Amino acid sequence: MDIKSTLRKQIIERRESLSRQQVEEKSRAVMNCLVSLPEFIKASTVMSYMDFRNEVRTREIIAFCLSNGKRVAAPRVDKSGGKGASKLVAYEIRDLEKDFEPGTFGLLEPRTDESRIVAPEEVDLVLVPGVVFDRKGNRIGFGAGYYDRFLARTRNDCIKAAVAFDFQVLDEIPAEEHDIPMDIIITESGVIYNSKGERKN
Ligand SMILES: Nc1ncnc2c1ncn2[C@@H]1O[C@H](COP(=O)(O)OP(=O)(O)OP(=O)(O)O)[C@@H](O)[C@H]1O
Ligand SMILES: [Mg+2]
Repeated sequence: MDIKSTLRKQIIERRESLSRQQVEEKSRAVMNCLVSLPEFIKASTVMSYMDFRNEVRTREIIAFCLSNGKRVAAPRVDKSGGKGASKLVAYEIRDLEKDFEPGTFGLLEPRTDESRIVAPEEVDLVLVPGVVFDRKGNRIGFGAGYYDRFLARTRNDCIKAAVAFDFQVLDEIPAEEHDIPMDIIITESGVIYNSKGERKN
């Protein structure tokens, strides 16, 4: 197994061992930190996936955005391009309870609705899911490259942010040419900022 796969497996195991209460408590701390950041406050269109298993809970973040006048988009895996051409498409979410349905990999994804497609260029801040990160903003995701391809289509000034637990952030992880680094990582103990252009190994 390569280093990325090994790290992914180890950290997922560690995350699976958290209790529901630990996930909820730490997630609250992460959210309180995120919503006070100027980058978040400034963002009018926020994109976020729905948390899955023991990920930092994003559902409360989505709810916060909706009740604070932000436009919210959520990603869906679109397979219409055929084999090898599947990609992420973002759809606007207006109702946390009604607008998600079980989709690819058992994740909750937005329902398809042409009229609600949000183009990557419209996103001001995107929460990027990931398993392992480092202090330079490098990220190991689930290994499909969906986010690396989606992020490449966002605006240059779009803030790429990750929410994670402390143990998901290591000193240094391998990064490849196609890996797009995070600008901000928020954990239960605070924020890690990465100045643009200085984040790669
Ligand atoms: N910009 C890109 N263009 C073409 N292929 C890409 C691009 N980014 C990633 N890929 C493909 O996706 C594969 C998986 O990428 P990687 O190992 O970085 O996954 P990941 O970052 O963990 O996944 P994800 O982005 O879905 O969370 C790569 O081996 C590569 O073939
Ligand atoms: Mg990658």
